[in-house]
This record gives sequence, structure tokens and C-alpha cells, in this order.
Amino acid sequence: MNFKDEMRQRAEQIEEALRKYLPAEEGYQKKVAEAMNYSVTAGGKRLRPMLMAESAALFGGSRQYSPGDGSVEATFSERALSIFMASLEMIHNYSLVHDDLPAMDNDEYRRGRKTTHVVYGEGMAVLAGDSLLNYAFETAVTAFEDAKSVEEYRRVAAAMKILSGKAGMYGMIGGQCADLEAEESKDAVTEDMLLFIHEHKTAALIQAAMMIGAVLMGASEEEVAALEKCAYNIGIAFQIQDDILDVTSSLEILGKPVGSDEKNHKLTYVAMHGLEESKKQVREMSEEALRILSSFPQRNLFLEELVEQLIYREK
Ligand code: IPE
Ligand code: IPE
Ligand code: MG
Ligand code: MG
Ligand code: MG
Repeated sequence: MNFKDEMRQRAEQIEEALRKYLPAEEGYQKKVAEAMNYSVTAGGKRLRPMLMAESAALFGGSRQYSPGDGSVEATFSERALSIFMASLEMIHNYSLVHDDLPAMDNDEYRRGRKTTHVVYGEGMAVLAGDSLLNYAFETAVTAFEDAKSVEEYRRVAAAMKILSGKAGMYGMIGGQCADLEAEESKDAVTEDMLLFIHEHKTAALIQAAMMIGAVLMGASEEEVAALEKCAYNIGIAFQIQDDILDVTSSLEILGKPVGSDEKNHKLTYVAMHGLEESKKQVREMSEEALRILSSFPQRNLFLEELVEQLIYREK
């Protein structure tokens, strides 16, 4: 199987597993459940859960994305991994629902479909985002139910700490805050603030993915720290590429509006350094991430190929 097919197959497996964690559309809260599910099942690359599973695989994790279903009893780490993959994807989707709101980027398309607030109204989109964030933690804590030893409890607790921190005001939300503020004072902002925005709004959740995958498999502190650095590079390269595509792509290919950053007077790498320099940065930061990955005694060639392919991604 070539890499693209393998990637598609893994994304489909993640998709299937993810659906098992989504809320039932019933009761007086039916609407919010529908809006949550509309957002999460719209497609998407499933990059964060994929990176989580691949980082776990680096430490011996199996690629069972849907444990508990087959005849074979799922192990603790398989179940925990599947739970945290779903939780992180919920947080990512909440961030997108809110990011598209008129009060933020005011974008009407996401993954080739009308965005959540266009279909369900702004109030329901605010609630769907809130609810996805909360549901992520309602889901994540269930991993404690499978823990049997102190070591297993410890791993779930460490994963919860990473997830909450990287999603919060010292993580993704902090980046979104600086991103909004930079709109007002685009000319006065510095390289330092630009990096802060990229590191927090985007790299933080990618760091969460890779660190949690490692922590659930019992990786050492040094190994987790190395992956945090690796994911920092992947995350910043990923956001620079997102900003490049916002200029060079089309709604048809990207599935979301292009020109959104210019419309919102966003501070982006492309606005500050131009397209060529930005492309160079994507390559250099991805190469740094690959250098870190190749320093591990165990290799994961799929993960390395994935990082490499992200440099050339078109959506
Ligand atoms: C979009 O993330 C938001 C950014 C951080 C640039 P993705 O490009 O991973 O979005 P989906 O999940 O594949 O739609
Ligand atoms: C979004 O950055 C980062 C988030 C935390 C959602 P963008 O605003 O550039 O993401 P897109 O282009 O709307 O996906
Ligand atoms: Mg934004
Ligand atoms: Mg946006
Ligand atoms: Mg963008």
C-alpha cells in the first residue's frame, strides 16, 4: 500500500472509532448534540489523533483505533489511546467552531460544508463549541475506569494534565487571544508575538497529541520532552503552511475560504515574510522535526513520512 492510501485508511479507522464517542441526538439537548456531531463528522484530516497513535506506536503502541469491539480484549493502553484520540479531536473541533464565528474569523465554510453557526445559528454554535470542550473531558476521564495499577492511573492523570494545559489559556486559547489582539495592531507586532501565536494556537494541540501518545505508553520524561519539541516544529510549520494556503489555494481545494487572513487583518508568517521565505520555513522546521524523530532508538517510518508529506500538503 502506498503512503497516501495508508493515510486514508488510518483516517477512516479514526473516523469510525471517533463516532463511538459522540453524543446521542435525543432529549431536550438534541439540537446541541446535532450541532456537535455536525462539526465532528464533517471530515477533516484527523491529523491530531493520527499523530497521537503514531507517537504511541513509536513506544510499542498497537494501532487499534477501535478497541473493545473485536473478539480480542483491548489492552489498557489501546483503550486509553482511543479515548484520548477522540477527546483531542473534540477539542480541535470546538476550536474550529468558535474560530469560524462572526465574532472571530467570520468564515462560512469548513471542510467543504457550511460551518456550524451558519447551519445551527450562532447561539447553538457557541453551545456546541462549549459542549465539545466539556465532552472531551467527560470522555477523557473515563480512561481512569480501565486503570488497574498505580502506574496506569498515573499515565491517565499525566495525559489529562497535558490535554487540559495545552488546550487552555497557556496553550491554544492563549494563542487565539494573541491572534485576535494582533488584528488590532498588526503593524506594531513583533516576530516574537508571531511565534507565540503559532506556537500556542496551533502547535499546542499537536504537542498534546504527540506527548499524550507517548505518556500513555510509559515513555520517559526525556522522551516526552523531545516529542514536545518535535511537535513544536511540526505545529509551527503546519500553521505557516495553513497561512500559505490561505493565499495560494481555493475554496474548492481547501474546503474553507481563502483570503480569510487578509480579510481579518491577521498577522501571519506570509504577511510578515512573504511566500518564498514562508515555504522555506515550513521545510526547515519540518526537517528539524524529522531530525528529532530520527534521534529515537526506535523509528516510526510512517510518522516520518507523515511529517514529510505535511510540507507539501494542499489542504
Ligand atoms: C485547521 O486545522 C486549524 C489550524 C490549526 C490551521 P486542520 O487543518 O488540521 O483542520 P482539519 O481538522 O483537517 O479540518
Ligand atoms: C486557527 O487558525 C487555529 C485554531 C485554534 C482554530 P486559523 O484561523 O488560521 O485556522 P483556519 O484557517 O480557520 O482553519
Ligand atoms: Mg483564526
Ligand atoms: Mg480561522
Ligand atoms: Mg488559517
